Formats: sequence, structure tokens, C-alpha cells
Amino acid sequence: MKIGPMIIDPPVMLAPMAGVSNRAYRSIARRQGATLCITEMVNANALLHNSAKSFWLMEMDPGEHPVGIQIAGSTPEVMAEAAYQAERQGCDLIDINMGCPVPKVVKNGDGSALLNDADRAVSVVREVVSAVKIPVTVKVRAGWNHNSITAPSLAESFERVGARAITIHARTRDDLYTRPANWDFIRQVKERVDIPVVGNGDVRTPEDAVRMIEQTGADGVMIGRASFGDPWIFRRITEFVRAGRHLDPPDALERAEMALYHVRRMVEIKGETVAIREMRKQLTWYLRGTPGSNTYRNRCYALNTRDEAENLIHEWLNHARNEELSWI
Ligand SMILES: Cc1cc2nc3c(=O)[nH]c(=O)nc-3n(C[C@H](O)[C@H](O)[C@H](O)COP(=O)(O)O)c2cc1C
Repeated sequence: MKIGPMIIDPPVMLAPMAGVSNRAYRSIARRQGATLCITEMVNANALLHNSAKSFWLMEMDPGEHPVGIQIAGSTPEVMAEAAYQAERQGCDLIDINMGCPVPKVVKNGDGSALLNDADRAVSVVREVVSAVKIPVTVKVRAGWNHNSITAPSLAESFERVGARAITIHARTRDDLYTRPANWDFIRQVKERVDIPVVGNGDVRTPEDAVRMIEQTGADGVMIGRASFGDPWIFRRITEFVRAGRHLDPPDALERAEMALYHVRRMVEIKGETVAIREMRKQLTWYLRGTPGSNTYRNRCYALNTRDEAENLIHEWLNHARNEELSWI
């Protein structure tokens, strides 16, 4: 798949996820085969007010390419300036958020609220495209609700004003996450544009990825929640799409090493207190589905220090090995 001059091959991407897809998480996804990662969304207004958090969200690892910075907002000039600032950080593309369903975002007209305001949405894309030299992509939901599926016609307009790819999360704003994704929305967008279309929503297995591509004609897939505690999903999908081959799931040692690496990187970028607090949930994901994981889950939620986290992971590893990995 080509986005502007960039070749994304194989086109298996990490979704932007606020509170999750920071640069520690992205480095893990990339090592496991994600060929394009998108940052957590950065609020354009906050960025222009020089909020330290916005600049932190845009930090990238050296060599972390290609990577996109996602910006959210609905005032065309503000979005243009934010895109310019984001480009200066050294990212490879700007992604515009038109999918966030959260009330505090949509009440300002941002995120998925733009799906209800075609003129504004198109003007946001046009202004952002003219403010930067790198490719601009847009991530949408299908529409506000099932009576208002606006993504296909919006995608056509976005292409006309210079967007280089569209990602579609196959739900409406009102679906939140309660309904299953309806991949037909992806097909509907794909039919309307010539630029690449990335399908997103409920891809959990390599078979899902293949089915999504076959059913919709999508040029690539984007994975969010299925990567929680399972970054190997990217490699499994890649291998299955390329060679029809199933890779073995990670064994206990690989899981433990990944969890330890994740803890170390999070401590590096967030400091111990915040990192361990945020890693509590992530660790439960790495350890889930294994013997005794309920007990370990409760203990994860009580972690406060890096030493405690590392000791818990080592203890879990010994336990898992004593079970002779029969659960793998
Ligand atoms: C915790 C979380 C945070 C998210 N944050 C963002 C975000 O910042 N920007 C965005 O466009 N989508 C965001 N999303 C939506 C995901 O990018 C993706 O569209 C959605 O999870 C569906 O894909 P999945 O079924 O593979 O998880 C978020 C989703 C989750 C679960």
C-alpha cells in the first residue's frame, strides 16, 4: 500500500489509541511487525497553547518510521497550524481524527462530530493538506448513526482536497463499542475513492484480517484492541496474509520478556510512578488466559514500583513453567 511516497508493506497498522499507543507501545508493535503506527490523538488547541502534554504525545523514538501524528480539532486554521507544528516534530504523516465519540470531544464539534458537518470537515482537511508537505490521512467512523452514514461521500470529498488515505472504523458514533463493527461500511468507502482505504474494527485474528480484505477490498488493516497484551498479532497477521501460515503463539518466556521490556520502556518515558500505574492494566493483558491469572490480575492492580512489577512477572513465569506450559 502506498500513502503518498511511502510504501507500507505489508499494510498492517497499529491504531491510534489515547492512553495506550505511546512510543513505548509503538516500539513494541513495530518490532512485532506493525508497518505504520499512529500516535495517541493530540488536541490541536492544546498544542497551539504549547501544552507540555501535547509535545510529549508527539515524541517519537529515533528511527521510529514511518509514524503518523494524529491531531483532533474542528477549526480549520487551528488544525492547519497544529499540523504544521506536528510535521516539525519529524513525523511521516498527519492523521486527522474524525472518529472520536467521547462526549467532551464531540461537544466541541471535534472527532466524530465532524461527520455531521461536511463543509467544515472538508475545509479542515483542505487546510491541513495545504499547511504541510507530508501526506495527510483521515480516520473516520461510518457516520453519526445508522440513519446518517456520511463517511463514503466525505471520503470522496477528502480525496478531492488532497487526503492520501482514509481509515474507516466500521462503526457509527452512536454505536460507540456496543455493536459489532459492520465491515460493509469499509466496502462502501472503498467503492468511492481511489486513494488507499484502511479497514478497522474488530480484527482479532489473522483470519479476520484476510476476511476483512476479501469482503471489503480494503488496502490495509488497522489493529487496536487485539494488540493489548498480544503485540505478536501483527506478525501473525502478516505471516498469514503473506504465506497462509500460522505462527505459534508466544510461550511464557516470550510473554514475560515482552512484559519486562514494556515496563522498562514505560518507566523510561513516564517515570516510575505513572508508568507502573498505567502498566497495571497492561500487565493483566500480558498474563491473561494463563493458569492462576485471576490471582495475578488482582496483584497487578496493587503494583506500585518497578521492582514489584518485575518480581511479579518473574514469579508468574516460574509458575507458568511449573505448569509445563500445558495451557499454551
Ligand atoms: C483505549 C482506546 C483509545 C482510543 N483512542 C483513539 C484515538 O486517540 N484516536 C482514534 O482515532 N481512535 C482511537 N481509538 C479507536 C481505535 O483507533 C480503533 O478505531 C478502535 O479501537 C477499533 O479498532 P479495534 O477493534 O481493532 O480495537 C481508541 C480506542 C481505544 C480502545
